[in-house]
Amino acid sequence: MNPERIACIVGARPNFMKMAPVHEALRRRGAAVRLVHTGQHYDAKMSAVFFDDLGMPRPDAFLGVGSGSHAAQTARVMERFDEDCEAFQPDLVLVAGDVNSTLACAIVACKRGAAVGHVEAGLRSRDWTMPEEINRILTDQCSDLLLTPSADGDANLRAEGMAAWRIRRVGNCMIDSVRAHLDRARGLGTPATLGLEVRRYGVVTLHRPSNVDDLHHLATLVAALGQVAERLPLVFPIHPRTQKRIVDAGLAVHPDLRLIEPLGYLEFLGLQADALVLLTDSGGIQEESTALGVPCLTLRANTERPITVVEGTNTLLGTDPASIGPAVEAILAGGGKRGRVPDLWDGHAGERVADVVLAGFRTLREAG
Ligand code: UD1
Repeated sequence: MNPERIACIVGARPNFMKMAPVHEALRRRGAAVRLVHTGQHYDAKMSAVFFDDLGMPRPDAFLGVGSGSHAAQTARVMERFDEDCEAFQPDLVLVAGDVNSTLACAIVACKRGAAVGHVEAGLRSRDWTMPEEINRILTDQCSDLLLTPSADGDANLRAEGMAAWRIRRVGNCMIDSVRAHLDRARGLGTPATLGLEVRRYGVVTLHRPSNVDDLHHLATLVAALGQVAERLPLVFPIHPRTQKRIVDAGLAVHPDLRLIEPLGYLEFLGLQADALVLLTDSGGIQEESTALGVPCLTLRANTERPITVVEGTNTLLGTDPASIGPAVEAILAGGGKRGRVPDLWDGHAGERVADVVLAGFRTLREAG
């Protein structure tokens, strides 16, 4: 049986670039797709700009959940998405990534008896203190179709006892968006607008609770980045939660560490593409930098994306801010890791998701 009515869920910034190619591929194949935006991210710069930049149609439903504790946000998504399901009656709900909206919609769909497909299934940091790890594991448990970006995802799922028929390696949907929009992104000339020279600057993003919630750690990080900025211009498009922490704590920021508002998708992609180095705790930027061939220093103790370290341009730096300076010096001296782009990060992952979904996963189950 083919699923006839498909709901595609987006909620927070990292969802948009993963779901856009899937939604587009399903529409091109004539599927009845409903795009549902939970409203987890609601600022224009965290949400609306992505629809314009990615050429995504306006959502068919906007649930307006906003911020709150994890429990409150997850619960609000569940209640409002359940009502939306009552009206639309999806056969299949497609969720992406690891944000609270991902898990909330997967639980709702699963309990209603709709099938669930998880785009970016199988990634594991093995760090249960990360809200995203909890979301990833529980979403995979709720999902009929586990759509993985890389072989490590398949291996993790098999080790957790998932049936082989549920696991389909489709590649990395986020990289579809990179490939589709890179020329346009570069054409904007964002580095020049910011007064930066190609390969003579670094880009910083930080928002994980492990880096920004402890004020002593955040202050040490910001000081270490300030020192690096004396050697290499650093631009820091700042996530609202990080901005709030810095302002609330009255932290002094080195004037060479340039804090700017969050950027749109195209501006940020153009900025990444011509950077010398990216310093981040984001998941997606580890992957985008690998696709772009730009060295990435990940300021975390672990990564759910080990393929970016093994094959790509990523280095897992750990949590000690003292390691940032020497790592950047090494890149200034030697250029840093070049890596290779992993298999199936080829710009066609969304097409493969649509093909798997529309081929009818239930027949796959019977065959498996
Ligand atoms: C969420 C995701 C994280 C993802 C990140 C990317 C979860 C558990 N976390 O974290 O995986 O990497 O998005 O951005 O789902 N805020 C605004 N404006 C907005 C959105 C949020 O000011 O448009 C503020 C909220 O008021 C809140 C804070 O940012 O104080 C956190 O937002 P929230 O959606 O809870 O999680 P993120 O930290 O953004």
